[in-house]
Amino acid sequence: MKAELDKNYWDNRYKEGQTGWDLGEVSPALKAYIDQIEKKDLKILIPGGGNAYELAYLHQKGFHNSYLIDLSPTALSNFKKNNPSIPDKFLIEGNYFDHIGEYDLIIEQTFFCAIDRTLREKYAEKTNDLLVSGGKLIGLLWSEDFGDDSPPFGGTKKEYLSYFTPYFKIQVLENSRNSIKPRAGRELFMILQKLT
Ligand SMILES: C[S@@+](CC[C@H](N)C(=O)[O-])C[C@H]1O[C@@H](n2cnc3c(N)ncnc32)[C@H](O)[C@@H]1O
Repeated sequence: MKAELDKNYWDNRYKEGQTGWDLGEVSPALKAYIDQIEKKDLKILIPGGGNAYELAYLHQKGFHNSYLIDLSPTALSNFKKNNPSIPDKFLIEGNYFDHIGEYDLIIEQTFFCAIDRTLREKYAEKTNDLLVSGGKLIGLLWSEDFGDDSPPFGGTKKEYLSYFTPYFKIQVLENSRNSIKPRAGRELFMILQKLT
């Protein structure tokens, strides 16, 4: 039976240490993108950030207007323990789809593949809503499928384009050149810019 991918499901995954998605470090593709951003005052959101090494990296690099949102209180408390110098106001406990805000940049990593497939169109619409005019969604998406039983749910470039094209100018959606070894050749890197 398919599990309901709610707060309990995700919080238990952290409590039980069932976090096979966790890289334990900043994703190299995201690090490379972050390293070339010049505007340090961008307002940045990492949805479904989990242990959010990228959030810690952003703050370390002087991006002091960067936030994560996650359903799991355990993930957030782990993040606080590991990053005591980052103020709580940057850690939002909640559901991405209910979140209200305005961001210049949203960074995706294994959140899109963690939500139920039926929410994919809504993800594109919600992400568009949360971005300022000209704002960007960047990050990584799986380029292969893993079936429908439990996350991660993968997909194809063609499928992703069907969700994002109505809302975004597709600047980049291509094989990631700097994935970690086990994900090499299995991920797309995207840079999508809000259309309106
Ligand atoms: C597969 S994990 C990825 C975590 C992190 N991005 C990483 O790469 O290590 C998916 C994360 O999304 C969170 N999540 C799932 N559904 C969510 C929702 N609707 N709103 C906010 N967070 C959600 C989970 O709690 C979990 O931390």
